Amino acid sequence: MLLDVKDLKVSYGNIEALHGISFNIDKGEIVTLIGANGAGKTSTLMALARLPRPEAPIVTGGDIFYEDKSILKTEPHILIQKKMMVLVPEGRHIFGNLTVHENLQMATFTHRRDINRNAIVAEIEDMVFELFPQLADRRKQRGELLSGGEQQMLAVGRALMTGSDFILLDEPSMGLAPKLMYEMFRALRQLNSIKHITILVVEQNAKVALEFASRGYVLKTGEIIASGSSAELMANHDVKKAYLGG
Ligand SMILES: Nc1ncnc2c1ncn2[C@@H]1O[C@H](COP(=O)(O)OP(=O)(O)O)[C@@H](O)[C@H]1O
Ligand SMILES: [Mg+2]
Repeated sequence: MLLDVKDLKVSYGNIEALHGISFNIDKGEIVTLIGANGAGKTSTLMALARLPRPEAPIVTGGDIFYEDKSILKTEPHILIQKKMMVLVPEGRHIFGNLTVHENLQMATFTHRRDINRNAIVAEIEDMVFELFPQLADRRKQRGELLSGGEQQMLAVGRALMTGSDFILLDEPSMGLAPKLMYEMFRALRQLNSIKHITILVVEQNAKVALEFASRGYVLKTGEIIASGSSAELMANHDVKKAYLGG
């Protein structure tokens, strides 16, 4: 198992947001965690990546295993440095005053110790531009001038620049027009099938997420209430009623 989350509990102060959730993802899979606003999706990804942000929750129980080793005590920057996983955060957080190219370069510190650093970085950047041609056309444009969809592509591109082959995505569909949203998921699927990138995506848009992932979990107010293949979840009466509009 690449990632095995066992009975994970997280809190903000004395408010528990995840009440002991368990899920896993194997190398090469696309797995989704679907849930309504406030279900605990971002809290889950924050607990995995543990970015040192003031708004990050504290893990109060359970464990997170990465290739069978607990990573709860691993410093979050080590997770990135060792290319173990990379988070594309909710809301993108790209640098508006930097160009597309500069935004991408910001994430390449992970290659500091690689012998052919420049060649590796150039090769990944080429791959990002091939995947998202819109970004290639705008490589010298400042981030703030990009559309929402392009900013989301840039956020994914920046994550790829770290060289990690496991990406965590927090609601990539948010705020995107349908056409761009499908383009985004098509690109992500290509990454998975051609570059063997493992993808864990949390989404409020259950329909799109289940079409994209091969299996998933349903998160409701901090608990996992259903799991299965995407086809099983799409056919599940409760899931249909609560998340698929019928
Ligand atoms: N910084 C925070 N401080 C206190 N409570 C928070 C904070 N962030 C999230 N929560 C609470 O934790 C729960 C889960 O939130 P979140 O993980 O952001 O849900 P989702 O991403 O699924 O919308 C919600 O009840 C939310 O109000
Ligand atoms: Mg969220």
